Amino acid sequence: MHTNIEKIFTKTIKNILEKAPFQVDLAVILGSGLGDFASSLSPELSLKVSEIQDYPVSTVQGHSGMLHFVEYKGLRILLFQGRIHFYEGYSLKQCLLPVEIAKQLGAKNVIITNAAGGINSLFCPGDLMLTSGFVSLFLKKEISQVLGAGKIDQRNELIELGSSDLYRFVKNAAIETSTNIREGVYFYSKGPSYETPAEIRFMRTFGADAVGMSSVHEAIYSIYRGVSPVMISCITNFAAGITSSKLSHSEVTETADLVKTKFENLLKSTFDQIIAQK
Ligand code: HPA
Repeated sequence: MHTNIEKIFTKTIKNILEKAPFQVDLAVILGSGLGDFASSLSPELSLKVSEIQDYPVSTVQGHSGMLHFVEYKGLRILLFQGRIHFYEGYSLKQCLLPVEIAKQLGAKNVIITNAAGGINSLFCPGDLMLTSGFVSLFLKKEISQVLGAGKIDQRNELIELGSSDLYRFVKNAAIETSTNIREGVYFYSKGPSYETPAEIRFMRTFGADAVGMSSVHEAIYSIYRGVSPVMISCITNFAAGITSSKLSHSEVTETADLVKTKFENLLKSTFDQIIAQK
């Protein structure tokens, strides 16, 4: 069975498969300001996305647009440094290309990271949150169009991110690295503008702990493609209206930068957990 994405990006995917030094066990998508992680891992091969045929190039600061092939203690990892956002005007199919590439390179798991605004009153900038569930209400039509009407409805009922092995590995890694990881519900906001205070109150009432403009479609598509996802958010700011300060993308990347070491340790320890179970 072919997906739409495979059909549209045949040449792009072929181009990457030809260049790839190996098949991978795991993919990691690095969110806003978290891209530096790649440089702590000595990649075997790094590709600029601008040099890959028809690969969409992110226009957002903090998303430098590289693919890195890394071997970490025998675990083969594909890192996406820089994400393609729906709010940049790309089609959802283009945004889902990284997951399709991961699938075709053999990945069994994908760690999806992002920056998010904290809605839960116990959350502070600099916290990390593991997504136990998400709200994708405002993206349903677009996702159904990618997957084919009807198909996603069967899968949505099965989506509880908190019950996978990978989720358990991240929680174990948090214990190993003494990281105080939060767990909660991520609310997808289409962007590109930040939310209003009233929208944040609405989201809180509906059970959201954090809000962000990415990731949920990547998680849904990876489930659809048989790649197990986890989502980790870096809470980079209090969501709109929680404090009187103005939100800005530079605050997002600055906070992500401050938690770099904590984030890197958590991811590397998660890799160790995966290796131990192999
Ligand atoms: N809202 C939406 N997306 C975000 C935020 C926010 O407050 N912070 C980082 N990404």
